[in-house]
This record gives sequence, structure tokens and C-alpha cells, in this order.
Amino acid sequence: MKKVTKAIIPAAGFGTRFLPSTKSLPKEMLSLIDKPTLQFVVEEAVDAGIKDILIIISRNKESIINHFDKNIELENHLKEKEKFDEIKKLKKIDKLANIYYIRQDEPKGLGHAISLGKSFIGDESFAVLLGDDVVMGDNPAINQLIDAHYNCNSTVLGVQEVLPENINKYGIISGKKVSPSLTKVDNMVEKPSAENAPSNIAILGRYVITPKIFEILESQSPGVNNEIQLTDALLTLLEFEDVFAKEFVGKRYDLGSKIGFIKATIDRAINSEEFREDTLAYIKEIIKNN
Ligand code: G1P
Repeated sequence: MKKVTKAIIPAAGFGTRFLPSTKSLPKEMLSLIDKPTLQFVVEEAVDAGIKDILIIISRNKESIINHFDKNIELENHLKEKEKFDEIKKLKKIDKLANIYYIRQDEPKGLGHAISLGKSFIGDESFAVLLGDDVVMGDNPAINQLIDAHYNCNSTVLGVQEVLPENINKYGIISGKKVSPSLTKVDNMVEKPSAENAPSNIAILGRYVITPKIFEILESQSPGVNNEIQLTDALLTLLEFEDVFAKEFVGKRYDLGSKIGFIKATIDRAINSEEFREDTLAYIKEIIKNN
């Protein structure tokens, strides 16, 4: 079977939940301390062996392109100041992967954004990583999906259980377990109410998808929020091919929500050698005083 070497990362949304920060700064460039969230997602793909990445951007997202490009003036400046660690950090970014960009002209939904990758992907299975979901763990979430894809030779969706009150934020699946962490999907619904949901198992921003999806997306009509939904296209894909859901291991943060962002920032501080002690001491102090 062909290796999965290409990924699409949609980054075209307005990020309205984070206004005013996102008025001129792309949501994907908001940082967890010192690294933009999009860089975490790109690094996850690269760690899983992805070589070519297509980022779907929109107007006013040029800073994303600049971030993954060389900045010679800055490098020269750092050289003069002998800041070699900083230079290393910058060089790492330029060498991550071959990154390409396409602009989505209108916010027509995730399914539409993915459809723009048709000629970039061609006739092979590919990974999709959504920037609102950052997963921390030893084995990259997308790598776990790619392994599952090699075993079942089908589309694989990354899932985890969510609380009932969060069901209406996600694509929800149901199906039959074929192994402890793999389910053969028989239904999926985009953002159902908790009462109408087929389960509490949510698609959490990681996919490996077969190229058949592009044919389906071409005639996919708009669904929830009047957007072309990837979940709806994946449901149609079920008519032609098997689809599996892989319960991936890793701590996943919902960076589409402010509380998710706060949690991810605290965890990143606590997990870093540099900030661990001071952060824990500060948290203890606030708990004591509140
Ligand atoms: C998108 C998908 C949804 C998925 C979610 C994961 O929704 O449409 O199926 O569960 O990402 O974060 P969005 O968060 O863009 O509304």
C-alpha cells in the first residue's frame, strides 16, 4: 500500500471566538507560550512521516506563510548577537516540510476547504489535521491513525469520547467495535443534539481519508450552518467504502474554546523544565488565596 505522505491543514476560519485577538492575527498563530498552535499541528504531521503539507488559508493569513518561511534579516541579526539557540529554533521551522498554500475564497465549510486539495493530493490517501485540536502525547495522534489505515486500508477517523454537553460541537459516530480501539463506522452526524446523537464518540480533528472523498465533495450539498460538511461527505463515502474510527491515545485540547486554550497553556508551562516550578508555585499561591 502507498505510504501516507501528504496532509491538508485547514486554517481559513475567522476565529471569531477569539476576537479581538484574531482581528488581524490568524487564530492559528495564537501561541501556547512561545509556539503558534499551527506549528504544533505541523510538527505532529512531520513526526508521523508527512512530507508535503497543504495549508488552506484565507485573506489576511499572510503571517502563516511568513512563519514557515525563512527570515534572513532576523537570522543575521541573531548571528550578530550570537543567539545561536534562537537561530536553531528558526532553522527547525524552515526545514519542517514542504508547505504549500491555497486560499479559500469564501467560508463555505470544512468539506469545501478539503475539496480545494484535490489536485495537490491526487490519487492517494491523505491526512487531515485541524488546528483547533492539539494533541500532546508520545505517539502523534495522526501517526496512530496512519498505522490503523495501513491495517484496514480504509478511511480512519480519530475519535475520543466527549461529555454529553459537548456532543453538539462535533461530528459524532456510531458503529461496531472490531478491536479495543477500532470501530467500524455505520453512522455519523455533524453536530447533533445530545438527545439525537448516535453516541458520545466524537471526531476530534484527525483523519486519514481515501481520495474517493474528492468525487463526493464535488456534489456535496451544504449541511449544518449552511456549510459543506466533511462529516456529511464521509457519511456518503460509507456507501462505497468501509470507514473506521480509531480511538487515539493522547491528551487533546480544544483550542477552539478559550478554556481549552487556558488548559493547554498551563499544561505546556507545567511540562516545561523552564517554567514548571514557578508555574506550580504560582498556582498553589492562587489556590490558597481564592
Ligand atoms: C469540525 C468538524 C467536526 C469535528 C470538529 C473537531 O467542526 O466539522 O466534525 O468533530 O471539527 O474539532 P468545527 O470545530 O470546525 O465546527
